[in-house]
Parts: sequence; C-alpha cells; structure tokens
Amino acid sequence: MSVTRKIALIGTCVLALAACTSGTASMSASPGIVLVAGATGRTGTAVVGQLLTEGYTVRALVRDPVKARAAFGDRVSYFTGDVTDPATLTPAMQGADAVISAIGAKGAKGPSRPEVIDYAGVRNLAVAASVAGVRQFVLVSSRSATQKEHPLNRMFGNVLIWKLKGEDALRASGVPYTIIRPGGLGNGEPGEKAFVIEQGDKSAGQTTIARSDLATVCVQALKHPEALNRTFEVNTVDGSPVTDWRARFAELKPDPSM
Ligand SMILES: NC(=O)c1ccc[n+]([C@@H]2O[C@H](COP(=O)([O-])OP(=O)(O)OC[C@H]3O[C@@H](n4cnc5c(N)ncnc54)[C@H](OP(=O)(O)O)[C@@H]3O)[C@@H](O)[C@H]2O)c1
Repeated sequence: MSVTRKIALIGTCVLALAACTSGTASMSASPGIVLVAGATGRTGTAVVGQLLTEGYTVRALVRDPVKARAAFGDRVSYFTGDVTDPATLTPAMQGADAVISAIGAKGAKGPSRPEVIDYAGVRNLAVAASVAGVRQFVLVSSRSATQKEHPLNRMFGNVLIWKLKGEDALRASGVPYTIIRPGGLGNGEPGEKAFVIEQGDKSAGQTTIARSDLATVCVQALKHPEALNRTFEVNTVDGSPVTDWRARFAELKPDPSM
C-alpha cells in the first residue's frame, strides 16, 4: 500500500472513530459535502435525491447547469465541468469530503466513447480527488468488468475493458474508494428487494438492479467505513431489504494493495 493511501485511510478511520465515540452509529453523524459526477444522469439523479434525504450537502458536477437546475432547483450547488477536461474538475473537488461518480459513456465511438469517459474521465476525477484530499470516492462501474470476452465489449467499444482500467486508475490514485459493479440497470422504484452482494466478478447470468436501489448502495457505502477499498458486484432479487449495511460491507474482503 502506498504512503499516500495509508495516510488517507488513517484519516478516514479517525473520522469514523470520532463518529462512533460520539455515540453515533455511523459516519453520517455529520453528513459532509458530496460531489456527484454524472448528477444529471439517471443513476446520478437518484443518488442526488438520496443524499439530500440523508442530509448531505450536495454538489452536482454537470455539463449543462440549466438542465441540472430544472431537476434540482436550489437544493444543490452546481459546478460546471467535463470529465474530459481536468481543469474544470478542480473547483468542484475543493473542500469536498466525498465523490460519487455515476458517469458513463454514450455510444461505442466518438467523443463520449468508453475509453474517453469510463477510463480517462474516471482517471481525471480520481486524480483531481487525490489532489484535493477527498476522503472517499464511490465509483459506479459494472458487473463483468473483468470479463474481456463479454459480448458487451464487442457491441459497445470495449466498455467493460475501459471500465476496468477506470477502476484501476481509481485504485492507483491513493483515494480511499468503494467500487460498485451493478448488474443491468432498470428504472423501478426502490423496493422490498434483497441485495445480492458478491465479489470475484464471476458470471451469474442476467442480473438486474433498479437505479434507485443502486443509489442506495452508493450512499450506504459513504456511511460505513467497512465499504472502503472494496470492490463488489450488486443486484437485487425478491426478498427482504438489507437492515444492517455495516454488517453486509464487513463481510467483504478488501482489495489487494496495488
Ligand atoms: N445501463 C446498464 O444496464 C448498466 C449496467 C451496469 C453499469 N452501468 C453503468 O452505470 C453508470 C450509470 O448508468 P446510467 O444509465 O444511470 O447513466 P446515464 O443516465 O447514461 O448518465 C451518464 C451520466 O454521465 C455524464 N457524462 C457523460 N459524459 C460526461 C462528461 N464528458 N463530463 C461529465 N459528465 C459526463 C452524463 O452527463 P449529461 O447528463 O450531461 O449527459 C450523465 O449525467 C454508468 O457508468 C453505466 O456505464 C450501466
């Protein structure tokens, strides 16, 4: 583990300990400032909504502030930025406690292809977060990110290959992170669903999760230091909802040090 990553991890653990010793159960005792990249996307919008409900101060990193303001009004602050342009990320990161990225490529080719957004864009965010001293970076990646022969790579500009490279850039950045690999995304309401959380990226056939449920996982990851430096797959099935996220995250193995 690099010295930078050790120092960042110690800082995060001290914060979590302070929250616990002050009689609270989680880091949400004093919700911090969270920058949401991809805030105007479908998952990002759900993430913003849940952060606001939980009392976080939300910054939206957006390409189109007019579109964003129509969605969130005065409930969030806006930072105009593009993940392909590192200079635009610096102001948004200054003073942020955490970042949640739900950015994603559009099209297999062209300026918003996976290489540019899911790899270089994530890398640019991770570097900016590291420079700003951000304490946690939650990245929405994808199930099957490690499966080079997956048909999605042929269909969609090697999207999974580039997502894995984006994950690796975050791991190498020294910023404490949580990498979430959802199954296929849907637009349903969050429900009485059981979350299936796995590691190892083994093929499990077709799995799905509603974007609103994925947003729940992103926000819960912020609240529990047990989620730090973990990578996991997630989908939902019919069943009882999670009641103890701390215990679920605590079951996960930390990623090997880079
Ligand atoms: N679809 C699936 O079944 C599936 C499965 C597994 C994982 N995922 C991943 O889950 C994540 C969320 O998916 P989603 O469908 O909710 O996303 P989405 O609705 O397509 O939103 C993508 C977001 O990325 C932003 N973005 C794209 N290029 C950008 C740039 N250059 N600078 C700044 N922002 C940029 C978009 O901004 P604008 O609002 O300005 O366009 C948008 O807010 C993605 O990473 C996706 O690959 C998806």
